[in-house]
Amino acid sequence: MAIRKIAQLGEPVLRQRARELTRDELRSPAVQTLIDDMIETMHDADGAGLAAPQVYESVAIAVIEVQGNPRYPNSASIPLTVLVNPRLTPLVASSSDALADEDAFEMYEGCLSVTGLRGRVRRPRKVRVQAWDREGNPLDFEWEGFRAVVVQHECDHLNGTVFVDRADPKSLTFLREYDRYVPLERRMVDGGARS
Ligand code: NI
Repeated sequence: MAIRKIAQLGEPVLRQRARELTRDELRSPAVQTLIDDMIETMHDADGAGLAAPQVYESVAIAVIEVQGNPRYPNSASIPLTVLVNPRLTPLVASSSDALADEDAFEMYEGCLSVTGLRGRVRRPRKVRVQAWDREGNPLDFEWEGFRAVVVQHECDHLNGTVFVDRADPKSLTFLREYDRYVPLERRMVDGGARS
């Protein structure tokens, strides 16, 4: 296993649509090593997730894990999850263009490809996730809250989208200023938890 270099905002690979893998490709040693390397790279960088384009591989793989992460100290944990060729479907009543408060999860997101910056993003608070695991077995589950945000952020990378595209521009903040000026109660707001 190896820690790979993480592409930073401006690298063209972050703006490409990642291609899907066949099961034969997935089972190849090169792709299995890529997955191992993505997990190691995510751990080393204290990321909540990592998508293959972030390590210069334009294929549809994302890894997610949160366990006592210093970058997300107040977040619920997420078990290690490998998603291949993922498809997401929002499971909320209102449309993504006009999300009702009770359907929305707002969080100051960060990204290993956008070092030092956070910004507030509003997303559907619940999604259906369909994908393969690293062996090619089908996965189909529903995630809500913080988990739903993380999986949407990672799957955005597979479509060439970065969180700054979705963030309220006036909310963008560097980490030092985030720590100073964004109160804890505004860092993560689950609209579905209010009712
Ligand atoms: Ni990211």
